[in-house]
Amino acid sequence: MTDPAELQLTEIEPKDATMAKEVLAGLRASPKVLSPKYFYDERGSQLFDEITALPEYYPTRTEIGIMEANIDEIVALVGRQASLIEFGSGSSLKTRILLDNLNDLAAYVPVEISREYLLAIVEGLQADYPHIEMLPVFADFTKPFELPAPRVAPVKNVVYFPGSTIGNFAPAKALDLLRVMASEAKQGGALLIGVDLKKDTAILEAAYNDSQGVTARFNLNMLRRLNNELDADFVLDDFRHRAIYNEEEGRIEMHLISERDQSFVVAGEQFSIKKGESIRTECSYKFTLEEFSALAAQAGFQQRQVWKDSNALFSVQFLECVSNN
Ligand code: AVI
Repeated sequence: MTDPAELQLTEIEPKDATMAKEVLAGLRASPKVLSPKYFYDERGSQLFDEITALPEYYPTRTEIGIMEANIDEIVALVGRQASLIEFGSGSSLKTRILLDNLNDLAAYVPVEISREYLLAIVEGLQADYPHIEMLPVFADFTKPFELPAPRVAPVKNVVYFPGSTIGNFAPAKALDLLRVMASEAKQGGALLIGVDLKKDTAILEAAYNDSQGVTARFNLNMLRRLNNELDADFVLDDFRHRAIYNEEEGRIEMHLISERDQSFVVAGEQFSIKKGESIRTECSYKFTLEEFSALAAQAGFQQRQVWKDSNALFSVQFLECVSNN
């Protein structure tokens, strides 16, 4: 039994802490882009939680339904004494579904770039699951990191990546990330991942243009964050949220559209933007089962089991690591 106060934290200082550099490069580009990773300050994380409960935003509740309906098969595939390595902090209900049902885990290893958030989440989990050894890792999971050694030697490593967050990476970056996952899972290990599926454009666009305007507030909050953290002077009312499905690219795109010709300053640098011009803040790629299988195969993963909901909106997939490429 581990006392939450005695949690062992593995710290791998994220090297890429240069938000200003990345933001300025994105705003100098044409078209202008900002990285979706900057959505998640405290307010952005709260707004994202609200998004997951919206009637139009089907992914979260659909994924939870798939996990609940198939938990026995999932447990059987994870197998005995696995080390469960979550890319992300374990804040979601989905992690608890796994921890409630995986009775003899060697360890639970959440990997997260926000130190305070990671510690807060893991302390809560450790209190509720005192029998599971928890080994949080403070690291940027897009780059290979060293895994801490559990007290019980794991039979295999199973990487967990829920939420279809894989869709927020452009294809080449998604492949890089799957390769990092393969290197952490190692040959004989596995990946349990949530993957959002291609579907009717109307369903997709409604999910990202909700009627209560929560996604709009989430998108605009990126500008508020830049005002707070990078001395920017965005007037939020001068931008409007728009999400569209780009069929050719197979992705939802979130944009902030300028309502007028204007200029703004970020970290001492001035930019101008025309009326109707956009700053793209996020892409959310959607997959067919074949497309995801082909992408994962390039990283050394073989699809072993795919679970879907009855409307084929979303999938949860179990893939075995057959080689780390
Ligand atoms: C976190 N990620 C999987 C969400 C998505 O659906 O791409 C982020 C999001 N953006 C707008 N709504 C939700």
